[in-house]
Amino acid sequence: MKDMQSLNKEKAFFLAVNTGYHSGGEPDDRMIEFYGERSGPNIYCSIVGNVVIPNGYSTNNNCVYISSSDTWKKLVNRISSNGSIPGIQLSTTWEGYSGIKKFVASSENDFESYFDIVKDIEIHTLDEIFDRFKHGAELAIECGFKHIQIHAAHGYLLSLAIDSNFCNNHEYAILKLNEIIKEIQQKNIECSIRFSLKTGLQSIDRNRKKDILNLMSLDPDFFDVSFGFYNINKNMIYPTSNSMLNSRIKSCLELAKSFSDKKIIISGKSLHGDIADLPENVYLGICRDLIANPNYLNDKSKKCENCKVCHYHSRGEENLSCAQW
Ligand SMILES: Cc1cc2nc3c(=O)[nH]c(=O)nc-3n(C[C@H](O)[C@H](O)[C@H](O)COP(=O)(O)O)c2cc1C
Repeated sequence: MKDMQSLNKEKAFFLAVNTGYHSGGEPDDRMIEFYGERSGPNIYCSIVGNVVIPNGYSTNNNCVYISSSDTWKKLVNRISSNGSIPGIQLSTTWEGYSGIKKFVASSENDFESYFDIVKDIEIHTLDEIFDRFKHGAELAIECGFKHIQIHAAHGYLLSLAIDSNFCNNHEYAILKLNEIIKEIQQKNIECSIRFSLKTGLQSIDRNRKKDILNLMSLDPDFFDVSFGFYNINKNMIYPTSNSMLNSRIKSCLELAKSFSDKKIIISGKSLHGDIADLPENVYLGICRDLIANPNYLNDKSKKCENCKVCHYHSRGEENLSCAQW
C-alpha cells in the first residue's frame, strides 16, 4: 500500500505458522516471543497462522481465535515495533473436521468427505460464512493488524467453496471473496489470498485451470501460492524432496509469468537458496528456515534440516518445537 511501509524486494514474508502457543485460544507469551523474533528489518510482513474466525471451526485443538482481547494487541505491537507489518491468516474448517496425523492419506476415506462438505451449499450459507470472515477481519483490524490473509488453501473451507470440483456455487463464493478483499483494502489494509495451486489429486488437478483463472481474476494485494490439501498429502504443503521443491517452484514461476500484473508470494524451503533473480512480481515467502533460525536472512548457514520435529500435530504434540532450538 502506498502510504504504508514500502515493499522492498530485499524483504521476505514470514509465512503463516500454526504454533499451538496459546492460552484459552488466545496468543500467549510464547507466541508473542515467537513472532517477535521472526519480525524485523528484513521481514516485510510476519503472518500469524491459521487464526479461527468468529463461530468458525479450528483445524486442531490448539488453534487461536481472533477476538478483541489485549493479547492480540500485544502481539501486533511486538511485530510492528520490530519494523514488520503485522499480518494474520483467517481460517475456518467445518464441524467435525479432523486433520490427519499421517503425512499421506492411506485410503480414500481420509479425503472423500472433501467432496460432500460444500457441494450443495446454499447462497445464504455462503453469505453467513463470508460474514464471519468479515467480522474476523474487522476484529483483526481493530487489534492493529495491517495485513489480512484469507486462508483459501490446504483443503479448508474456503478452498473447497471457491473450487468448481467441490462446490456448485463456486462462482458466488468467488464474488464474495472479491467483496471481502475490497472491503479490507478500502480500510487501507493489505489483503492476501492463500490458495493451493494443486490439491494432490491428479483427477482434480487436471481440471482446475478455469478455477485458478477465476481466482487470479481477483485483485488482492498478494496471492500467496501454496500446494496440497492437508488430508491428502502434507508433503505438498511442506515439501522437502528436491523433485517436489523443483516442480513447486517451476509451477509458481509459470503462474507468475502468466499473471505478471499480480503480486505473487512463492515459497518452498526458501527457494533452494536461489532467490537472486526472482521476477518483478514475485516475492519470497519463508517458513521453516525462519522457524529454525529467526536470523536466517542474515545467516543462511543455519537453516531447517528437514527433521520434521516442527510437525507437532503429526507427532501427537500440542505445540511447535524445533530440533535446532
Ligand atoms: C509447523 C508449521 C506450521 C504451519 N502452519 C501453517 C498455517 O497455519 N497456515 C498455512 O497456511 N501454512 C502453514 N504452514 C505452511 C507454511 O506456511 C509454508 O507454506 C510451508 O512450510 C512451505 O514453506 P517453507 O518451505 O519455507 O517451509 C506451516 C508450516 C509448518 C512447518
